[in-house]
Amino acid sequence: MAGNKMICMCKQVDYITIRKAMVEGARTVEEIKEMTGAGTGCGRCIGEIEAILASVCGCKQTSLADVVEAVKNGADTVEKVGEVTGAGTACGRCKGLIQNVIDQKR
Ligand code: FES
Ligand code: FES
Repeated sequence: MAGNKMICMCKQVDYITIRKAMVEGARTVEEIKEMTGAGTGCGRCIGEIEAILASVCGCKQTSLADVVEAVKNGADTVEKVGEVTGAGTACGRCKGLIQNVIDQKR
């Protein structure tokens, strides 16, 4: 499992801080900027922020798009999302984010 890593050098924002903002509902670069400050300097980290935003589950390589689609197709629990997409069925660290996607439907 990859550890924490500095993503935005300008604002000293690390990977875990960005993931936490996602669990609190951030889905876009603009929302990450507002919530963490990451990406508001030189902008060189934006691509990496986009890549982080696009992924829900690193263990099962499940994208946000896949989880959102599962939720729109009726998966209304973390377990059901896991059955359909695999997300959350290994280390379980992404379950909070899956729950937030279910709550927000995005
Ligand atoms: S490295 Fe993030 S804005 Fe410069
Ligand atoms: S990140 Fe490990 S189960 Fe999703």
